[in-house]
Amino acid sequence: MDIRELYIKPQEGDKVTFLGRVRSNRAGKKVSFLVVNDGTTMNDAQIVYKDDLKNYEEASKIRVGSIVEIQGTIHLTPDRPQPFEIQATSIECLDEAIEAYPLQKKEHSLEYLREIAQLRARTKTFNAVFKIRSIAAFAIHKFFQSQNFVYVNTPIITSNDAEGAGEEFGVITYDSKNNPLTTDFFNKKASLTVSGQLNAEAFAQAFKKVYTFGPTFRAEQSFTSRHASEFWMIEPEVAFNTLEDNIELIEAMLKYIFKDVLENAKEELEFLDENVEKGLVQKLEKLSTEKYVVNTYEQVIEMLKKAVDNKEVNFENNDIHFGLDLGTEHERYLCEVINKAPTFVTNYPKDIKAFYMKLNPDEKTVAAVDLLVPGIGELVGGSEREGSFDKLMKRCEQMGIDPTELDWYIQLRQYGYYKSAGFGLGFERLIMYITGMTNIRDVIPYPRTPKNLLF
Ligand code: 4AD
Ligand code: MG
Repeated sequence: MDIRELYIKPQEGDKVTFLGRVRSNRAGKKVSFLVVNDGTTMNDAQIVYKDDLKNYEEASKIRVGSIVEIQGTIHLTPDRPQPFEIQATSIECLDEAIEAYPLQKKEHSLEYLREIAQLRARTKTFNAVFKIRSIAAFAIHKFFQSQNFVYVNTPIITSNDAEGAGEEFGVITYDSKNNPLTTDFFNKKASLTVSGQLNAEAFAQAFKKVYTFGPTFRAEQSFTSRHASEFWMIEPEVAFNTLEDNIELIEAMLKYIFKDVLENAKEELEFLDENVEKGLVQKLEKLSTEKYVVNTYEQVIEMLKKAVDNKEVNFENNDIHFGLDLGTEHERYLCEVINKAPTFVTNYPKDIKAFYMKLNPDEKTVAAVDLLVPGIGELVGGSEREGSFDKLMKRCEQMGIDPTELDWYIQLRQYGYYKSAGFGLGFERLIMYITGMTNIRDVIPYPRTPKNLLF
């Protein structure tokens, strides 16, 4: 049985058999204690064994990390922190870990654990983080599926740079001697997708409501705790949605996820609340009910400028003016100090946003929205899409984008175009927000960042 099942309704005297990995083995002359876990629950099984066990000597030498099979009876221990212990009748070591097992029973730093990503999921912290990652992913599907969105798998190998930011990884082929081939496999430049948005937009024209959930890749030289070279993105796209609808959808989606995780990852969240971020559960409860703030970009500039002028804050960049591409320091000050809440920022200047965003009537700004959250900064980025063929062509030209590369996308405006809006949620940043982990490297099983391709 799974150790999780042991915890469901333990009864005094019940006979149980289970497998697990040894977390610790505290051996005494006559009585010893084994702590075993199998990853199905945050809870360990506490096993007591005595010198009447036929292989007592041998059992007391089982090393941390080894795999054991335990048979025993349950003894309830209402006076102690753990609700029961197992009194062993048989302990068999199925596979022995070496003496130098890297996860000995002591506190390990997150930095050290990053170097053994193939093992770190065995620790309680990472067990909690990756369980929550799985639960949150499922919650996202549940949210969209319950509202009749169609899940679209957009290409991973692509020829378009959806964001026009020039941050793509190229795809090349090699010969049998590992030399890059000069003839292109696809007969054109191929890269790993930075976003599935353009392909999803075409599907929104067919299904009205769609979403993607897949890996995306960015060759950004960003050595920060919030940027990864490979990360997962959720990109819904809804025909007929306005910017306001987009904001509503983002907020509803996030609240659904927070509630779902609060309900389905109780023990994991409690562990993280105690060990990673104090008050985490309360934070999530608040986030799943309170209203988020909405500010226009122009208001934000005014508020930040006022804070600088009044010497309430000293940024690295104090030159706050319309047109500024807000830095993380500005974004975080806005949501952490000024609003103290998740903050939607709308209607950014067109020059700092992507070519596909809908131009507002003022012709200076676009119908864009970013969601900034305390502790992280940008969690979501989205917009209404430019529906005018001519305006889109003009934007491409202004931004130095070759429109012939995007014929198939731009022409959607000529084949009967539903207005549409959508957004991208960075899945790892969401998991950081939910778990309290402060480095993106610690919320993805095998992180890829500049100069780092271990595992
Ligand atoms: O703001 P971005 O670049 O928007 C898009 O890609 C649009 N195509 C979305 C859309 O409208 N369909 O990225 C969206 C989100 C960001 O807000 C951030 O959370 C995350 O993706 N993100 C990253 N996460 C981790 N590492 C990186 N290098 C990231 N770059 C963006
Ligand atoms: Mg963005």
